[in-house]
Amino acid sequence: MTPLVVGNWKMHGTLASRAEIGAIARGLDKPGLPPVEAVVCLPFTLLFPAQKIAAGTKLKVGAQDCHFEKEGAFTGDVSAPMLKEAGCAYVIVGHSERRAGHGETSELVRRKAEAVLAAGMTPIVCVGETKAERAAGKAKATVEAALKASLPKASGAVIAYEPVWAIGTGENAKPADIAGMHGFIRLLLGPAGKTMRIVYGGSVTPENVKEIFAAAEVNGALVGGASLKAQSFLAIVKSLPKTP
Ligand code: PGA
Repeated sequence: MTPLVVGNWKMHGTLASRAEIGAIARGLDKPGLPPVEAVVCLPFTLLFPAQKIAAGTKLKVGAQDCHFEKEGAFTGDVSAPMLKEAGCAYVIVGHSERRAGHGETSELVRRKAEAVLAAGMTPIVCVGETKAERAAGKAKATVEAALKASLPKASGAVIAYEPVWAIGTGENAKPADIAGMHGFIRLLLGPAGKTMRIVYGGSVTPENVKEIFAAAEVNGALVGGASLKAQSFLAIVKSLPKTP
């Protein structure tokens, strides 16, 4: 499985960020990098310009959310076919910031993931426990429930394990805990899980990524803050094992 490194730019970036996107694309085309599939998931407004920059390079472009319907009276929403047209290869669905801030349920996340697959893109389905759930010994039960309800029946999704308490806090999960949860997720996925990528997200930085990538069952990373600058995004890519 080729590892996947996904930048999640969240609500960051204007047209001035084209320079940074270009620097990421150029960096990925340099020889000697470990095998990797690299994606930046951008705000909707940057997708078309980013697609122009990424065309012909190894960089792929993705989005951070979509509606499950193809079109209709859904003010403010963007559909999966629209994102496909804008050049997206991936769409993040069910990020904890959308689950918490926009009341998204796992059922809704599953419909979004199905729409992404139907449009010919790959959904990155996010699951993860809160600090309180972990403290109560319910981390695995929470992840299991979210995964079962969020995952589309059809194959092709990527899973992102993102403990909510690790997102944007500077406190990443310990490699042993990451390996434990990824192994658990792999088990839950059954035979289909053998070929599915499970990536870790939550305060991944160039400093801690080597030990995270070295943890068992980690097939890449979903990176927020450290993906905004080409230098740190590329440093994370370069920390991947030379042979996956
Ligand atoms: P972070 O964000 O790397 O800034 O913690 C990760 C994410 O929310 O996907």
